[in-house]
Amino acid sequence: MRATSYDHLLIWPVMFLMVIKCDALDVVNVTQIIRDGDTLVSAGARFVLGFFSPGSSSRRYVGIWFNRIPVQTVVWVANRETPLLDSSGVLQVTNKSVLTLVNGTGGVIWSTNTSKFVRNPIAQLLGTGNLVVRDQNDNSPQNFLWQSFDHPCDTQLPGMKLGRDLVTGFDRMLTSWKSSDDPSPGSYTYRIDPRGYPQPFLWKDSIEQFRDGPWDGMWFSGSAITQVDSSDSFQFVLNDKEIYYSYNELDPSVITTRALNTYGSIQRHEWNNHTQGWAAYYTKPIDNCDTYAVCGAFGICNFGNSPQCQCMKGFVPKMSRNWDEKDWTGGCVYGAPWNCSIRDGFIKYSNVKLPDTRNSWYDTTMNLDQCKMKCLHNCSCVAFANLDVRDGGSGCLLWINSLIDVRVISGAGEDLYVRVASSELGGGRNRVIVAVSCSLVAALFLCGITISIMWRRRRWKIKEQAKYGAPEEGRSINIRKMGESELPEYAFDVIAEATNNFSLANRLGEGGFGPVYKGVLNDGQVIAVKRLSKESRQGLAEFKNEVIFISKLQHRNLVKLMGCCIEAEERMLIYEYMPNKSLDYFIFDQSSSALLGWPKRLEIIKGIARGLLYLHQDSRLRIVHRDLKASNVLLDFEMNPKISDFGLARTFNGNEDAARTKRVVGTYGYMPPEYAIDGVFSLKSDVFSFGVLVLEILSGKRNRGFIHLDHHHSLLGHAWMLFREGATLEVVDPSIRNSSYASQMERSIQMGLLCVQQHPDDRPSISLVNVMLTSDCELPEPKEPGFYIQRNVPHESASSRTKSISNDQMTITTLHGR
Ligand SMILES: *[C@@H]1O[C@H](CO)[C@@H](O)[C@H](O)[C@H]1NC(C)=O
Ligand SMILES: *[C@@H]1O[C@H](CO)[C@@H](O)[C@H](O)[C@H]1NC(C)=O
Ligand SMILES: *[C@@H]1O[C@H](CO)[C@@H](O)[C@H](O)[C@H]1NC(C)=O
Ligand SMILES: *[C@@H]1O[C@H](CO)[C@@H](O)[C@H](O)[C@H]1NC(C)=O
Ligand SMILES: *[C@@H]1O[C@H](CO)[C@@H](O)[C@H](O)[C@H]1NC(C)=O
Ligand SMILES: *[C@@H]1O[C@H](CO)[C@@H](O)[C@H](O)[C@H]1NC(C)=O
Ligand SMILES: *[C@@H]1O[C@H](CO)[C@@H](O)[C@H](O)[C@H]1NC(C)=O
Repeated sequence: MRATSYDHLLIWPVMFLMVIKCDALDVVNVTQIIRDGDTLVSAGARFVLGFFSPGSSSRRYVGIWFNRIPVQTVVWVANRETPLLDSSGVLQVTNKSVLTLVNGTGGVIWSTNTSKFVRNPIAQLLGTGNLVVRDQNDNSPQNFLWQSFDHPCDTQLPGMKLGRDLVTGFDRMLTSWKSSDDPSPGSYTYRIDPRGYPQPFLWKDSIEQFRDGPWDGMWFSGSAITQVDSSDSFQFVLNDKEIYYSYNELDPSVITTRALNTYGSIQRHEWNNHTQGWAAYYTKPIDNCDTYAVCGAFGICNFGNSPQCQCMKGFVPKMSRNWDEKDWTGGCVYGAPWNCSIRDGFIKYSNVKLPDTRNSWYDTTMNLDQCKMKCLHNCSCVAFANLDVRDGGSGCLLWINSLIDVRVISGAGEDLYVRVASSELGGGRNRVIVAVSCSLVAALFLCGITISIMWRRRRWKIKEQAKYGAPEEGRSINIRKMGESELPEYAFDVIAEATNNFSLANRLGEGGFGPVYKGVLNDGQVIAVKRLSKESRQGLAEFKNEVIFISKLQHRNLVKLMGCCIEAEERMLIYEYMPNKSLDYFIFDQSSSALLGWPKRLEIIKGIARGLLYLHQDSRLRIVHRDLKASNVLLDFEMNPKISDFGLARTFNGNEDAARTKRVVGTYGYMPPEYAIDGVFSLKSDVFSFGVLVLEILSGKRNRGFIHLDHHHSLLGHAWMLFREGATLEVVDPSIRNSSYASQMERSIQMGLLCVQQHPDDRPSISLVNVMLTSDCELPEPKEPGFYIQRNVPHESASSRTKSISNDQMTITTLHGR
């Protein structure tokens, strides 16, 4: 006898029920069932619910995925811990208002937990991707009997609350899949910790991995992404009923997800209709400084520094030996015995991620002064900050006993005031000196100042030399380690197959350190592969550099690295393929330049400026690209510019403005004078290159090699001359000269000229450039550009030094004999 008593109860009724193909339905009632192969499609058709097998697994799961996306992207799984072994599963709503999944023998595999009964229970897949059980005649969200948004898996969809419902006790968190074949809970979770002032944490089992920092009114304080340059709107709600964080897309036609992957990274992806692939917009944690408490108590992490960890002012390493061995987790302790009556001052740290708030106290009504007094009056208080940074700041956040997990985030973060003895304050001491010197010996004071300035200079110089003495040579990096969790590795065979064994026909050109090939992966994804030539030792340094930088960078105006291949002697980088090649193909070619009208060119200029702003300011690294040029600006399907080639990029520390190198690398025609001649580079070097690029985009002519019958000026000199004669528009490419855009073009030329001024200090910062591009503010008059006479290129001046110049579009290297 085959049938069991279960069969009578569950299989027999099924036979009388109407079996439906629910292709276009988003709802089932008690008389309908969903079998393996049937689906529900949400209103608006963005989501599908059905049975699937993840990765290479043959097990069956009920889940929700995106409907119109060819790469099956599952956002929610019902029976993630209890797979079906075959395709006999049936999903149905019972008359007890419960949604159940039963297998072929009637065993309940999974079910919703509802305690309420309604007359006409239905299950519906809503347009948001939320699967709900509700009464047919009551669609108010507060009366839902059950909803999948209360039971997230690894993905947070727009509108989904992540956090705690303090009434029902739900703690909605993300839990990673075990692997891409197995949706059962892996070891990573991402959830809001309600202790102190609530903040989201990423955990691996019970160990903190990463903390987003407390909400600062706009965003989490540990994030380099701000509300302004995000395409989502965020919400953080904290009251006595609930604590949660949610987001919504500002543009509903864009499909996005935020998911916790199996390696423990939180990534936001956006579907790209043109590449038919997911593009990652950010990844957290981003670097070593994001590792929870990497510098221990009272330590502060700065990714640009060496060592990355430093003690806060007035504190010393607890275990200095470990500290020297780069184990900073022991943290720092107060130099002298604790005595709060003398710890009556505060040091302000700007642009930092606020410390762990689990041991904090907060008040939304106090102002900063009241907050400071509150801190001074509590012996355990070690620091304070504003709770909300909007409108000049409000609210009070105090830390008790310890400060942990603080990092520097250039261009973002907040102000933190750390309690110290006022004798530790530089300002306090100076005040004493001033008082003494004014009333007693003024000369002694002046003498003191001179000595202190000399001493500081010397120290700065020593520090600078230590840092930049032999930068390129001295760096040894473990690439595998750098890429570890972030960067997928491809097998050599896979890449060889994709590129037709690196055939000549697949060769796209020559990159910074070797040939570039086009390839097609098995799944149809088109890629560009940069292969390091085996002879190139110089190339190896650049390869490492590129891996380090670009694997950390995520911006729509930077080219995206998909992975690498490191096998035996092989070193390859795999990028998304850019079908429209690079900018130089368009602007310097008469037939194709006609395709690129002024509005598109302006969009390209703006895109490059945004990419550069991210490098200089918004990424946590503060990067000088050092080789920005038309051939390094790639164009995607929609002609959006993407800055590429980070082989020569360098980071800058928060407080330094310029550095000097013995090896001048870059491309003539794009290098500013102070760099080409003296080897001094700064963020303003990139601004110069950007200015050259703007003038090239407008004129359709290369700066280097520019020839004019009447004079020996470079393109920069030519443009400047015309600008001063009031004939600015004559420099513009005839194919785009169009009077209706005259004022925009004139303005862009003026902006370009401001960027290429001789003296770096005269050039605007890239953030100012972005303001110029998006506003109508009046522009200043540009002074003379650098290298405006063509012969001024440092041929003669550099003749005693070694140099290698391949051709004007290739990257050059000059060794200065210093
Ligand atoms: C279930 O839905 C079907 C199709 O919409 C309908 O014909 C049927 O009457 C419904 N049954 C109940 C009990 O509501
Ligand atoms: C609910 O369904 C079960 C079996 O499917 C049946 O025995 C029971 O009578 C039903 N209850 C109601 C109230 O319809
Ligand atoms: C169905 O589920 C029950 C209970 O989980 C289990 O004992 C049974 O082996 C399953 N049957 C099949 C065919 O998977
Ligand atoms: C279902 O929910 C109730 C209360 O909401 C809870 O006590 C019970 O443990 C839950 N059962 C399951 C299987 O989760
Ligand atoms: C992407 O394609 C889908 C389906 O064709 C369309 O609905 C959506 O508007 C497109 N999105 C964008 C941003 O173009
Ligand atoms: C703390 O410092 C004050 C002022 O210097 C001093 O009077 C007091 O004795 C100190 N207390 C302790 C416990 O050292
Ligand atoms: C300091 O503040 C904390 C947090 O509010 C509190 O628990 C503690 O009792 C306070 N200590 C004193 C001495 O007021």
